[in-house]
Amino acid sequence: MAETVLDYEAEAAHYDRTRGGVPRAEAAARAVLSLVPAGTRTLLDLACGTGLVTERLARPGLGVYGADAAHAMLRVAAERVPGRTVRADARRLPLPDASVDAVSAVWLLHLAPFAPEIVAEAARVLRPGGVLVATVDKDAAHDVGSDIDEVLRPLRSAAPASDRADLVTAHAAAHGLDPLSSAHFTGHGQGATPRDTARKLRAGYFASWFSGDPATTETLAAALDALPDQDRRRPDPRYRLASFVRRG
Ligand SMILES: C[S@@+](CC[C@H](N)C(=O)[O-])C[C@H]1O[C@@H](n2cnc3c(N)ncnc32)[C@H](O)[C@@H]1O
Repeated sequence: MAETVLDYEAEAAHYDRTRGGVPRAEAAARAVLSLVPAGTRTLLDLACGTGLVTERLARPGLGVYGADAAHAMLRVAAERVPGRTVRADARRLPLPDASVDAVSAVWLLHLAPFAPEIVAEAARVLRPGGVLVATVDKDAAHDVGSDIDEVLRPLRSAAPASDRADLVTAHAAAHGLDPLSSAHFTGHGQGATPRDTARKLRAGYFASWFSGDPATTETLAAALDALPDQDRRRPDPRYRLASFVRRG
């Protein structure tokens, strides 16, 4: 399995329930489709996870496929999009050059220290004129303007997130992908609570943009512990999708 911060083999059992379920998946799929040009016939959903978003991308005339590195996630996806899933590392897809019309990557690039390689691989498999649609600035979408955000802000400025929009745009440009458009979707049920954020911080969940020393981590986690309404969710985040078109 590819290196990721979370163990998605273990996450699969409760992934859908904890990631906003159908409302989040519908919102994400709608936003992805809003960036996919009419006439697109094949779409590869990278890091398809349990396929909750993937199955909602299917449309008459559009063949949707899913790829993911985690067996357990893919097993669930295979029930949702039968015969259309493949276990693959997004950095090494089992596809020829210029073979698909669109690639989506919802909630992938923020996880991966190797985001540039994923963007390069997506560019390789896209035909000229094809589009890549990917979430950017994922973690920064959380807690904007909330008390949790106040605590975490120093971490966010300490190191760039792997899915920071300007970095993804630069990786894309280096591989023949030009910026095209963007869209947003609501992360239903994804508003953070202080208690859960502190738990994630201590567990290293934010390691893609913060590799702080244990003392700093504990100081910030203690600040989260001290916030009021420990189990009250702050507002749902709005996630951004950016799209890029493959030069001809
Ligand atoms: C946060 S989940 C997103 C799943 C799905 N896109 C969604 O929106 O529900 C991240 C997924 O990325 C997959 N993943 C992480 N690194 C990967 C890699 N290098 N190649 C393929 N999949 C990867 C994980 O197994 C996991 O299923």
